[in-house]
Amino acid sequence: MSDLATGTSDGTTTLDVAEIRKDFPALQLEQDGRRVVFLDSAASSQHPTQVIEAMSELYSHSYANVHRGVYQMAERATNAYEQARTDTARFINAPSVSEVVFTKNATEALNLVAHSWGRTNLAEGDAVVVSLLEHHANIVPWQMLAAEKGIEIRWIGVTDDGRLDLTDLDTLLDGAKMLAVTAMSNVTGAVSDVRALADAAHAAGALICVDACQYVPHLPTDVQAWDADFVAFSAHKLLGPSGLGVLWGRRELLDAMPPFLGGGGMILNVTTEGFVPDEVPGKFEAGTPPIAEAAGLSAAIAYLEDLGMENVRRHEVELTAYALRTLRERLGEKLRLIGPAEPAARGGVLSFELVGVHAHDVSQMLDEHAVCIRPGHHCAKPLMKEFGVVATARASFYVYNDTDDVDALADALVAAAEFFDFGL
Ligand code: ALA
Repeated sequence: MSDLATGTSDGTTTLDVAEIRKDFPALQLEQDGRRVVFLDSAASSQHPTQVIEAMSELYSHSYANVHRGVYQMAERATNAYEQARTDTARFINAPSVSEVVFTKNATEALNLVAHSWGRTNLAEGDAVVVSLLEHHANIVPWQMLAAEKGIEIRWIGVTDDGRLDLTDLDTLLDGAKMLAVTAMSNVTGAVSDVRALADAAHAAGALICVDACQYVPHLPTDVQAWDADFVAFSAHKLLGPSGLGVLWGRRELLDAMPPFLGGGGMILNVTTEGFVPDEVPGKFEAGTPPIAEAAGLSAAIAYLEDLGMENVRRHEVELTAYALRTLRERLGEKLRLIGPAEPAARGGVLSFELVGVHAHDVSQMLDEHAVCIRPGHHCAKPLMKEFGVVATARASFYVYNDTDDVDALADALVAAAEFFDFGL
């Protein structure tokens, strides 16, 4: 067991958040004499020294371009880059390391699927099913394709508590070629039953492309148990660096897809007549890849594996339950919480409206208390429209947050409500 996770009398394990925090330089910061309370990990998480040092070490002693040089430093860089692929495959239980494609972010991974798989396999009149819970990254690439190819986009609705409304799923999937859906909403926190969605898609003859950006960092992930076809996520939401995304895809699908971006690194041969693409995953990794970032991702995965993803999930469910309870008690009807009431049905993402106050004003007030949250549409404008809001404020948790952070959030929100004279 990790030093950062401790056993309890009921046989479960809890995270030692005080110890974990010591690993994160950004969480030692103070702002106007107050401890910085970081509650914006759904946008991008903070980094432990292990990740920062892994990247620094690579830059200091093992940096060169990968898959090119034959000198020792270049071999060390290539090994580090490929080790990250192996670590990633293990982390999501991919059947093969070659199915892990590194991109610059999850958005690029989803664009890769839409533009490479979609452009090859979809024709006018074909349908792609997306949901109102999607981030723009799992909407716009399909809309771009729709504009180009004349495909139809069908929408899964949402329930009042911000979950996928699957009432009409079979009708929506009837004749569709792709279901592009989130594993966990970045706005409502609702966790999808990906396996059930994959079964429904496959029964209808469609594939499933899963946006797992908010899921992979927070819950144990098994792409084989999901029976998924494509899964996208990013390193920067799981304690790793920005600039590195992951696309996992089933090998036979990736093999049959044309390259998305062309250039160096993705070819077997180039002549004046044309080119022959490399095998996967190289086929999809044109240009110099994120090398130090890959080393950072390995370190981030090692950190999370050390904590244990079951423990990470348990911690976040408990913290979310505490937050929902605390915010309801402290703010009552002044706060409109969006998302499922049941903590086990959601991740540690809490979107809310302080009634009558714009989310940006709320966030700015919270910054005066050194509480960092995100205001805005969260790149989910169709969902905002569905909920009848232009923006929400969003607090999101990770392994370094605890009930003190939730209390700080509640204190700051109460102060904001009093400032705006709601008479709490
Ligand atoms: N997709 C990220 C978020 O939800 C940036 O904040």
